[in-house]
Amino acid sequence: MAPWIAPSILSADFARLGEDVETVLAAGADLIHFDVMDNHYVPNLTIGPMVCEALRRHGIRAPIDVHLMVRPVDRIVPDFAAAGATYITFHPEASEHVDRTIALIREHGCHPGLVFNPATPLDYLDYTLELIDMVLIMSVNPGFGGQQFIPTSLRKLMDARARIDASGCEVRLEVDGGIRTDNIRAAAQAGADTFVSGSAIFGSRDYAQTIREMRQQIAITAQPAGVRHGS
Ligand code: DX5
Ligand code: ZN
Repeated sequence: MAPWIAPSILSADFARLGEDVETVLAAGADLIHFDVMDNHYVPNLTIGPMVCEALRRHGIRAPIDVHLMVRPVDRIVPDFAAAGATYITFHPEASEHVDRTIALIREHGCHPGLVFNPATPLDYLDYTLELIDMVLIMSVNPGFGGQQFIPTSLRKLMDARARIDASGCEVRLEVDGGIRTDNIRAAAQAGADTFVSGSAIFGSRDYAQTIREMRQQIAITAQPAGVRHGS
């Protein structure tokens, strides 16, 4: 699957969000990562369906990747579908009935995905992988932007990649937390194909340059070993 760069708008300028999202898309982003926090499942509070809808009304056509860090999960799913979400991912610990939540997201016309915290095992995938379109590996504890990448996430990405490849299913493998130009290559080598990055993109002066550098790093991974430069 072609690699996707997913800027997290958690680090965007909320006072002029529509414009900032347009700018990051024009700079080469593939989809918009939309972090939803409830000050309950995670210790922070962000944005809800009304903001997603406002982005659609503003004219944003790119896929929106809604990352739910909320409990309960099901109540808010139809609202996000109506607001224009493309992907809806959730933390299995936050749902009473994971299979039901996946079906609910699908019934509402969105692509479902499961999110794994750094200490959460991948066992939830045993009976769900064929039902979802995205596996999201958290490489920080959820709740805040700008945290340090947790190195054990690389092993988790490799394990998830092996499961996805063995299943033969078309499932994206996304990584979220602390992704920057200097570690995106390691995440790609570990099997990620979708890269969330908040502070590293929105905190940079030139979004296009940062996204270009990220793509270059990923492309090095994709080359056969013999033609790699500087590795
Ligand atoms: C953290 C969020 C992330 C966050 C990533 O709970 O899920 O999407 O915005 O931000 P950075 O890239 O700054 O770690
Ligand atoms: Zn996120």
